[in-house]
Amino acid sequence: MKKILVTGGAGFVGRHLVRELLQLGHEVHVVDSVAEFTGGMDPEKGWPIFEPRDYSNFIFYKQDCREWFEENKVTDFDYVYHLAAMVGGRLMIENNPLAVADDLSIDASYWQWAKETKPQKTACFSSSAAYPISFQEEVDYILLEENMIKFSTNIGMPDMSYGWAKLTCEYLARLAYEKHSLKSICYRPFSGYGEDQDDAYPFPSICKRAIENKGAEELTVWGTGKQLRDFIHIDDCIDGIMKTIDKIDDGSAVNLSTGKLTSFLEFASIAARVVGYNPKVIGLSDKPTGVFARGGDTKLQRELGFKACIDFPQGVRKAVEYYSK
Ligand SMILES: NC(=O)c1ccc[n+]([C@@H]2O[C@H](COP(=O)([O-])OP(=O)(O)OC[C@H]3O[C@@H](n4cnc5c(N)ncnc54)[C@H](O)[C@@H]3O)[C@@H](O)[C@H]2O)c1
Repeated sequence: MKKILVTGGAGFVGRHLVRELLQLGHEVHVVDSVAEFTGGMDPEKGWPIFEPRDYSNFIFYKQDCREWFEENKVTDFDYVYHLAAMVGGRLMIENNPLAVADDLSIDASYWQWAKETKPQKTACFSSSAAYPISFQEEVDYILLEENMIKFSTNIGMPDMSYGWAKLTCEYLARLAYEKHSLKSICYRPFSGYGEDQDDAYPFPSICKRAIENKGAEELTVWGTGKQLRDFIHIDDCIDGIMKTIDKIDDGSAVNLSTGKLTSFLEFASIAARVVGYNPKVIGLSDKPTGVFARGGDTKLQRELGFKACIDFPQGVRKAVEYYSK
């Protein structure tokens, strides 16, 4: 049994990770402020995918992790999964970039705390938003490879304050290893999805709209709908984390991606087909869309022993069945 801390563990990725860790019998401490406009859910109100309070090895602190770090300087965690962040979907990233910049202070506090308390290993949650946006344009996009961000020579321009913060967190992870021998791995998840994701994300909102509009002639998506994303099921994300966590120690990064790109137009058509109709899918051009194409190369993940195996239509089917109930 390991002693584990999960910051931001009441969020979408956190809840799935916490379930896995509890089922493996670890002592799991979760610190989460259940911040407004994020995907955080208070365990006191119940979680959709499982009941964490059924586990005696689940310890929850409803608190800002920065405060918690200040109050807990004598600890002995084997692993820390550092997920706490102001995320909240595209609207939040584009319209509230200064709220998202809170991530800089959350991550700075984390690494200062880690320097003092020396957890054995940190899994740090960066993002595909850390990649240079110049590789994600309509004319000449390519799959994003981990080594496109080179801290020694060229990091490029990341996606808004969210990408900046994630890039800075990765850089701090490397410095923590070089200067203080703190072991860590950074994950760059692409578009993680699952049934219990917050409605601010495209995955639940498109699936739910497809269900609500059953039989309609038209279905709408944000932007032109041509923008392409690499959707990876949350169960694959957790599998990828479990399989790779001990394979990198120097703070360098690995993608969590499938390498397959799906447009929002295709996504909505898949969802409608699963529901049982075949509408014309059209874009809503007044909504923010983000970069044109964001897909992640999978070579390094495969070398580390992980390959995503849930294909997108299968994930959509699972979600539509869940929402239809
Ligand atoms: N879901 C994805 O596909 C995806 C993609 C790329 C990166 N990530 C990264 O993975 C991590 C988890 O993302 P998620 O999708 O679960 O987001 P989420 O919004 O569901 O979860 C984030 C959690 O952090 C908590 N939080 C925010 N500020 C906090 C603070 N100061 N102290 C304590 N808790 C705080 C929130 O309450 C929330 O529960 C984030 O770091 C995110 O940037 C996720």
